[in-house]
Amino acid sequence: MKSSQILPLLLSTLLTLPQITPTSAAPCAITINSTQILAIAPKSASCAGAPEAADGECATADQAAPAVSKAFNKYGITSKAEQAAVLGLIAFESGEFVYSRNHFPGVPGQGTRNMQSPAFNKEYAASLPALADRFESVQDNPAAVLDLLLEDLAVDFGSGAWFLKTQCSDSVREALQTGSEEGWEGYIVDCVGTEANEERKGYWADAVEALGN
Ligand SMILES: *[C@@H]1O[C@H](CO)[C@@H](O)[C@H](O)[C@H]1NC(C)=O
Repeated sequence: MKSSQILPLLLSTLLTLPQITPTSAAPCAITINSTQILAIAPKSASCAGAPEAADGECATADQAAPAVSKAFNKYGITSKAEQAAVLGLIAFESGEFVYSRNHFPGVPGQGTRNMQSPAFNKEYAASLPALADRFESVQDNPAAVLDLLLEDLAVDFGSGAWFLKTQCSDSVREALQTGSEEGWEGYIVDCVGTEANEERKGYWADAVEALGN
């Protein structure tokens, strides 16, 4: 064999090797199915009875399940206790996925499924390369930024996972990961910044049960 033939042979060998990367490892993929979503948000069985005000916002469990699964995988939310906390939060905040915009009172730019405020939506949108071109020209218009985030259900349903990953401290997350009620309260009070009331607790408890241990 002449030496000039060796390089092409090596290249063709390398190019045919299977591409194995840690991110494509199937066994690690997180899947939340629509049965689990329904157990947390029974209203999401159908959007047929959704109020007129929710026109264009309502999403069913069948739509929510792949969207939240994608978000948990993207942001690496592998702890079931954390997944339950996020699912409970978004189910509560969106009226069981009926709404993706704030209607009560109707703050422009407040929304996505965890109903986060415009400042967080701006930060969230800025983090998404797929929106970069259009975000630049609307970044000072909260309503337009929210419109961008609502174009893709995976983005819309991904805000809770993004928020946990980027806004909650390590100590809040470590306590949350234990699965204790105290850990959940710390997440709601110290990170989300609201009251850990009975209604929120109910959604969280249903989510814990739906995800199992
Ligand atoms: C949904 O997931 C749960 C938990 O993994 C499982 O027990 C159940 O059978 C699944 N349901 C469907 C319809 O796939």
